[in-house]
Parts: sequence; C-alpha cells; structure tokens
Amino acid sequence: MLNIVLFGPPGAGKGTQSAKLIKKYGLVHLSTGDIFRANIKGGTPLGNLAKSYIDKGQLVPDEVTIKMLEAECVRNPKAKGFIFDGFPRTRAQAKALDQFLKTRATAITVMLALEVAEGELRKRLMLRGKESGRVDDQDPKVIQKRIDVYNAETMPVKDYYSAQGKYKGVKGIGTIEAIFNALCKIIDNGRTTKTVKKAASKKVVSVAKKKKTTAPKSGAAKKTKKVPAKRTSNKTAAAKKSKTVKKVSAKPVAKNKIAVKAAKPKTSAKKAAAKKIKPAGRKGR
Ligand code: AP5
Ligand code: MG
Repeated sequence: MLNIVLFGPPGAGKGTQSAKLIKKYGLVHLSTGDIFRANIKGGTPLGNLAKSYIDKGQLVPDEVTIKMLEAECVRNPKAKGFIFDGFPRTRAQAKALDQFLKTRATAITVMLALEVAEGELRKRLMLRGKESGRVDDQDPKVIQKRIDVYNAETMPVKDYYSAQGKYKGVKGIGTIEAIFNALCKIIDNGRTTKTVKKAASKKVVSVAKKKKTTAPKSGAAKKTKKVPAKRTSNKTAAAKKSKTVKKVSAKPVAKNKIAVKAAKPKTSAKKAAAKKIKPAGRKGR
C-alpha cells in the first residue's frame, strides 16, 4: 500500500495537491478538515462539536479525531492506499495512526511536507476567505491562531516521522504543477528504491539457498573434525584444522595400516587410536 501523510501549515496547499495525487496514484483522500466540514454541514453531533473548535482555530480533541479517521479507513477496505491530509496533527495522532495501520498490516510510506512561509500562508487564506464560505478563513485572528497552533502542536509530528526516516520536505511556493511534479518525483523515487531493495533481498535469499544446497561438501569436514580437534576454540583454528583434517583423512586406510603394523607386537593399536579420537571429536562439536 502507498500511504502518504501530506503535511503542512494551514493554506500550504495540502488539499490542492491531494486532489491531483489521488488521481495519479489511485489513492483514497482522507482530509480530516473536509470530514469535519461535511459533518458541520450535515448538523451531526460530531459536526457541532468540531465547529466549536474550528471556528476558534483550535484543534478538535485527539480522541474524537482519531476515532473518526480510523472509521474512515475501515470504510475503504479496498483502498490501494491513502493520502492523509491534515492528519496526524499531534504526536498522539501520529502514534495512534501507526498503531492502527499496524493492525492492518500496513504503514505510512512517506510524509510529504509542503514548506511555505507564514506571510504567503496568510495571503492565501485571506484571499480564499473573501471567495469561499470557510468561517476559519474570514478572520485574520483565527488564521493567525491556526498558524500558531500548527507551530506549537503540529510541528513535532515532523520530528516523529523524521526519526523514522520518512520525512520529505518540498518547497510549497511556485506553480501548483511544479509542486505536484516535485511530490511525484519523491513518491516515484521511493517506489523504485523499494523495488530495487526487494529484488536485492531476493538475490541474497537465493544465494543463501545455494550455499545451503552445497553444504553437504562440509560433511567431510564434519566427520574429520572428530580426529584432531583438540583445540577448536576459535573459527580460524577450526578452519586451519579442517584443512589438516582433510589431508589426514585423504589417506586414512594407509596410515591405519602403518600404525597397526608398528604396534602389532604389543597392544591393539586400532583400539588405542579409537579411544584417543572419540573424546576429541565430542569436544570439537
Ligand atoms: P483543514 O481543513 O485541514 O485546514 P488547514 O490545515 O487549516 O489547511 P487548509 O485546508 O486551509 O489549507 P491546505 O493546506 O489544504 O491548502 P489548500 O490546498 O486548501 O483543518 C481545518 C480545521 O479542522 C483545523 O483548524 C482544526 O480545527 C480541524 N482539524 C482538522 N484536522 C484536524 C486534526 N487532525 N486534529 C484536530 N483538528 C483538526 O490551499 C489554500 C489556498 O491556497 C487555496 O485557496 C488554494 O487555491 C491556494 N493555493 C494552493 N496552492 C497554491 C500555490 N502553489 N500557489 C498559490 N496559491 C495556492
Ligand atoms: Mg485543506
């Protein structure tokens, strides 16, 4: 799944870019601001609650927002991925989202952050306030409050994803098309890297499998380990020994014959040799 957090301050262009990204990548767009506004319009209890916060430029409490967001995800079981626009806005929301996605065997792929200076944000929101009916765009004080809340409560979410290596900042000033292309570049690069990594890990696995299948060769070493493995405390020593062992085991019959011949008059050399070999063999395992 491709799960994107589209991050940025009020007026950064999250909604504008989301609309384009969902078309290109076939994702489901989840904007908590849009869902709250739809509820406000519908006069639902959730809408009434959200309105009391939104009109003042404050965040709707975490508990309410998290529940609502999760319910929206569940409603889209066939989604190829999501764009989370305006969520998470607090560290608590980010943690909750991670946990929730984990239960669904997925995770956030990347956080794309639109970086726009405050002066530009104020200009954009004031302009929209004149044209649209968004109450929180009408009053400069409420606009400033939204920006302040973003700096105080939402900015830490950047660190949260940075720590996971998922934060990618993009300059959010310029034409909508240029910004869109910059976002797509990051998404596409990430996908290529992922594919390459997957292919590489497949190769590693197959090499490991090959090694396993050729392993019987070491069977000889296993047997011969028993012979001179008096001091096999470290790997280098073991490797050196196994070389010696190979040489020794190359002519086992001839050596035994010699030993038997030399010892014949007194004791059974074969038994003596066997006694010496056994304990050393166990030690070496
Ligand atoms: P939300 O609806 O998310 O509003 P926001 O974060 O304040 O951001 P906007 O939607 O105003 O801006 P945007 O970044 O989407 O930019 P857009 O594309 O519209 O949240 C509203 C409220 O709901 C919050 O204040 C809070 O109370 C509550 N809420 C929401 N989520 C919550 C959560 N997770 N937890 C708690 N409370 C939550 O563009 C803005 C304007 O700029 C447009 O007019 C656009 O045409 C223009 N524009 C876009 N791109 C460019 C460009 N490149 N150049 C020039 N103009 C541009
Ligand atoms: Mg928006």
